[in-house]
Amino acid sequence: MTTKTTTNDAVTIDNIITLCKSRGFVFPGSDIYDGLANTWDYGPLGVELKNHIKKLWWREFVTANENSVGLDGGILMNRNVWVASGHVSGFSDPLMDCKECQTRTRADKLIENNDANINADGWTNQALEDYINQHHLVCPNCGKFNWTPIRQFNLMFETHRGVTKDNADQIFLRPETAQSEYINFQNVQRSMRLKVPFGIGQIGKAFRNEITPGNFIFRTVEFEQMEHQFFCHANDSMAWYEKYKQKIWHFITKVLGVREENLRFHDHEKLVFYAKAACDMEYHFPFGWGELNGTHHRGVHDLTNHQNLSKKSMEYLDPITNEKYIPTVIESSQGVERLFLAILCDAYRTETLADGDTRVVLKLNPNLAPYQICVLPLQKKGLTETATKLYRELQQNFNVTYDDAGSIGKRYRRQDEIGTPLCITVDYDTLEDQSVTIRDRDTMEQVRVKLTDLNAKINELLTKSF
Ligand code: GAP
Repeated sequence: MTTKTTTNDAVTIDNIITLCKSRGFVFPGSDIYDGLANTWDYGPLGVELKNHIKKLWWREFVTANENSVGLDGGILMNRNVWVASGHVSGFSDPLMDCKECQTRTRADKLIENNDANINADGWTNQALEDYINQHHLVCPNCGKFNWTPIRQFNLMFETHRGVTKDNADQIFLRPETAQSEYINFQNVQRSMRLKVPFGIGQIGKAFRNEITPGNFIFRTVEFEQMEHQFFCHANDSMAWYEKYKQKIWHFITKVLGVREENLRFHDHEKLVFYAKAACDMEYHFPFGWGELNGTHHRGVHDLTNHQNLSKKSMEYLDPITNEKYIPTVIESSQGVERLFLAILCDAYRTETLADGDTRVVLKLNPNLAPYQICVLPLQKKGLTETATKLYRELQQNFNVTYDDAGSIGKRYRRQDEIGTPLCITVDYDTLEDQSVTIRDRDTMEQVRVKLTDLNAKINELLTKSF
């Protein structure tokens, strides 16, 4: 059944949501209590996919990257971190409430959704209100036109530290992981005796009180970031910026296998005053092009602000030139869940097979697939012992699952739908000839392999280009 397969990769966000919930990738947060807006729980397959993404990123940006080390900073930090970073004063969204249905809406997004050519980021409240009035933009929820004035809402989740209300100090859940990397610049440089240029990578949770129009896990209030800050001399900084742009492109296309035709760079037209360059990589999601990650030339802004407020030096003394300077930062910032969504959208296909049957198949890179292998006994009777023994043996080296429920055809389809690259079937001949059948997810071709050659054959098939 290897020929005359027609493939359709036109995926909708509903296809992905349905697959995610029914196959254990992503569940709505607090599901049994009718949910909590913009929160999600990652199921057994989702957590495997997320872990694979994070492991590959860590290798690419930390362990196998030049001059880079890792960090695991706290979610809670001194309030001054967010004063120095500018988040206390400036990290806000322009929101307005519909007086008819009480739904809160982001004014800039309402305008951008009305006209895709407009970028309303940075507009004053007055400019936003004028546009909304002139174009009579109605509430997307109830269709009425009855807005409150626009107010700026800070996106940081606030909490309090202290055992009694009286001595409670206001603190925040971090809205990005990057600040730990900046405030630990000296700790890391000195303890590891690093020479500039060097990088610090970190993976961790971040929280933003976002009002969003849905789009599944694209924009959520709790998410994980994989961020890498590269500290370098200003003179070399644009070369490092270009290098980190290429690095993230290589990671997404070559390491993860996302198709290049669904990706593009988008340079920021308006730069903040301290930035020399900034760009997003965008993915063509089913709902349109959306930001996947960012590469930012942040100048000396972050380290200088922390130096000024903390009164602790952020300068570096070059041991060869004796030059003392605050290093320039090149940031690479990637959200785990957004990449997860792009990977699923990119891998999803529906296929009509030669016999008229259809299948959904996730053409995931084997390094990302929740399971690399599924072991299936053709029948339970007489084969369970041999199949479970093989399953246990393979678990020592691979991510493996086991399925003995239903017809073999249905079991293949289930594995295709969750992206398992190889199915290994144990049949009655196995008991005689000590061989099994390996079925390839993409071609559906089957090969018979001796158990003694099995590990080598699996490795060969998993590393062929998918
Ligand atoms: N330190 C820089 C920074 O945080 P950002 O553009 O605000 O920059 C970087 O965020 C990345 O984090 C985004 O490109 C996206 O992948 C992810 N991200 C940001 N906000 C998110 C949200 N509310 N939900 C999911 N992912 C988000």
